Amino acid sequence: MRCPARCSVSDQPISRSTLHAATEAATHDAAHASQQVPTVRRPRLAASRVLVVGDVMLDRYWFGDVTRISPEAPVPVVHVQRTEDRLGGAANVARNVSALGAQAGLLCVVGHDEPGERIVELLGQSSVNAHLERDPALPTTIKLRILSRQQQLLRIDFEKTPAHEVLLAGLVKFETLLPGHDVVLLSDYAKGGLTHVTRMIETARAAGKPVLVDPKGDDWERYRGATLITPNRAELTEVVGRWKSEADLHARVDALRASLQLCALLLTRSEEGMTLFTDAGVLHESARAREVYDVSGAGDTVIATLAAMLGAGVPLIEAVRHANRAAGIVVGKLGTATVSDDELFPDPPALA
Ligand SMILES: Nc1ncnc2c1ncn2[C@@H]1O[C@H](COP(=O)(O)OP(=O)(O)OP(=O)(O)O)[C@@H](O)[C@H]1O
Ligand SMILES: [Mg+2]
Repeated sequence: MRCPARCSVSDQPISRSTLHAATEAATHDAAHASQQVPTVRRPRLAASRVLVVGDVMLDRYWFGDVTRISPEAPVPVVHVQRTEDRLGGAANVARNVSALGAQAGLLCVVGHDEPGERIVELLGQSSVNAHLERDPALPTTIKLRILSRQQQLLRIDFEKTPAHEVLLAGLVKFETLLPGHDVVLLSDYAKGGLTHVTRMIETARAAGKPVLVDPKGDDWERYRGATLITPNRAELTEVVGRWKSEADLHARVDALRASLQLCALLLTRSEEGMTLFTDAGVLHESARAREVYDVSGAGDTVIATLAAMLGAGVPLIEAVRHANRAAGIVVGKLGTATVSDDELFPDPPALA
């Protein structure tokens, strides 16, 4: 497959020899030779401007005690003791970008309801530059979990596709925000916020900006022309079918990249790490986690780190390695779902 012009996602295009050398090193990584990627200094990251667009949601947790069964129905009664709200979906991705010290803009739609106000409040407390479209008829997407003794008893979801006019207004806003950003990151959670994704990709690519997509669903035609797409194993299987071997996987991904004109595909493979597919070849990075506590949100950290690095001018292969290390750190954390530049580059410390 030939990538369209400007496919190189950094000022150092990936050459076949670089990728092969890197793959070779990764194969012999007893001394983690392949992982010795240069530190990215703080000013470089601070100059990186990432525009995150997608489905934002509120992750809400109610923690309580269960001491009796309801007299109304055979269900436990939870006496709620504590509540917690966290930014989810595209907002979590944006938070991950800014935790690394890069600039994160966030374009998304929320309703005029209490969860929408809570998202506004939480974003206000973060360093994310929020550009929110408000849809008065939209119930803001919220996932409410009810937990007792660390066990989830129930999850309740509220969600609806935003109104047509609001999405069109978002597209206009996207076009005005684009010139002020280096990289576009589309975080699709299939809630309708990315209805105009194809148009956004076309506009961003025409402006010479790399576009990274975290996909959802089985219709990837809508991501045509994106620079890089980051499915997990289940998401890729849904689109290319179940592969029988690594060679079969490579063939299926190459055919997909060719048909959708994708420069690169990064398959995240949970405990198996991640694999990058480009015209120059295939690069595999093994998982780096020392301890695994909470794997949810690792995909958000991967794409956020990639985008922040590419915006800082880091070559793709190095960006993938940083993203793999960031994922290895985030899965070792309970509760928080971000990685800072100091955690990613502890030695030597990132320069102020
Ligand atoms: N169990 C694990 N052990 C080690 N590393 C892991 C594990 N799970 C995830 N990772 C790291 O996190 C990366 C992303 O994980 P994964 O492939 O599960 O993404 P995901 O399914 O999109 O995650 P999510 O949608 O929950 O954010 C992996 O490529 C790997 O580096
Ligand atoms: Mg994911």
